[in-house]
Amino acid sequence: MKTTEYIIVVSLLLLGIAGCKMDKGPVEPETDTDPISFVNHIQPIFDNYCTSCHPSSGNLDLSQGQSYSQLVNTSASGYNALRVKPGDPENSVLYKKIDGSGAYGSNMPLGSSLPQSDINKIKAWIEQGAPNN
Ligand code: HEC
Repeated sequence: MKTTEYIIVVSLLLLGIAGCKMDKGPVEPETDTDPISFVNHIQPIFDNYCTSCHPSSGNLDLSQGQSYSQLVNTSASGYNALRVKPGDPENSVLYKKIDGSGAYGSNMPLGSSLPQSDINKIKAWIEQGAPNN
């Protein structure tokens, strides 16, 4: 009897552990290889966090229809670097302005910061060659 009880308790414990592991579910992949769309993934970040100041702040217009040509292969107005250098986020003012590095003055959006998932998207988009897609 005691042995049976012991087996039942251990079985329930094991089931519990297995159950917990299953509850966690798959971690959403946020990899650099997922294709990023400028229109569907990047512009909405600008619309949410940036365009309140960036029709004009820093001589930078991030509104729809303007943002791409204002960014890609375009020199920053306040810094001696490109805003977006395709394939090279570490040398892109846009990325260094949101990654918390302070490499080019204040972090953006000014006074706060983007969610990490949005920072990752902008980085991946630049790494993928900053396509206008
Ligand atoms: C509250 C106002 C405000 C918000 C919101 C804001 N910015 Fe800025 N931004 C500024 C100001 C002011 C400057 C100029 C001073 C500086 O370079 O830090 C600037 C400069 C910049 C520059 C450098 C432009 C250049 O050519 O010198 C970039 C890139 C930039 N912001 C990106 C962003 C992005 C991306 C967002 C949204 C995630 C954002 N900003 C949100 C106020 C803002």
